[in-house]
Amino acid sequence: MSNNITIMDHPLLAHKITILRKKQTGTNEFRKLVEEIAMLMGYEAMRDLPTADIEIETPIEKCKSPEIAGKKLAVVPVLRAGLGMVNGILSLVPTAKVGHIGLYRDEKTHEPHEYYCKLPQSINERDIIILDPMLATGGSASAAVDFVKKHGGESIKFLCIIAAPEGLKRLSEAHPDIQIYVGQLDRCLNENAYICPGLGDAGDRIFGTK
Ligand code: PRP
Ligand code: URA
Repeated sequence: MSNNITIMDHPLLAHKITILRKKQTGTNEFRKLVEEIAMLMGYEAMRDLPTADIEIETPIEKCKSPEIAGKKLAVVPVLRAGLGMVNGILSLVPTAKVGHIGLYRDEKTHEPHEYYCKLPQSINERDIIILDPMLATGGSASAAVDFVKKHGGESIKFLCIIAAPEGLKRLSEAHPDIQIYVGQLDRCLNENAYICPGLGDAGDRIFGTK
């Protein structure tokens, strides 16, 4: 496996994803879990943020202590389902700017179609975290990264809760320079390009549609 891929391995995350997968899990609980999982994954994905020591004074004495340094953050959900992950990341970095990439998959070809995209200004100066709970064929994720790069984005991470091997391969081959974080790697895609065992349609489950 390429070294730009991190498959999360944490019992808390695994437990929460199990509840997410269950078909009887309702919209309210599903939404809360997606947000919590995004927060836990974001915590891990930001492990390599640079810090710089600053001079502070505690009630006891003066000392040097680290604060986050380096680039500012942009969070970019892939609509719709990525929206469910945004607040999880913002709970960690409330000052992050938020962009949007609207894509839907054609039901027959499974190829993504763009319908709305807007990114924060100076995207080239930011660390960018693209969010989408599902990486299936990898078409949407690859298109989202293409879009961000076209607008100057360079430092890019992609977070998904569940990935199929096919999508992970396609994304990492198309964009070997980005970091990919996966909550759990599933078995395969079915004939409708849904992830097996997966969790069904993430957008429908978050928004209660269908
Ligand atoms: C889902 C999901 C991803 C995409 C993954 O979105 O949220 O964006 O499918 O599939 P892929 O890897 O094969 O491209 P969908 O197109 O169903 O749109 P929605 O979120 O609006 O329901
Ligand atoms: N999109 C989803 O929401 N679920 C899948 O399994 C595949 C694509």
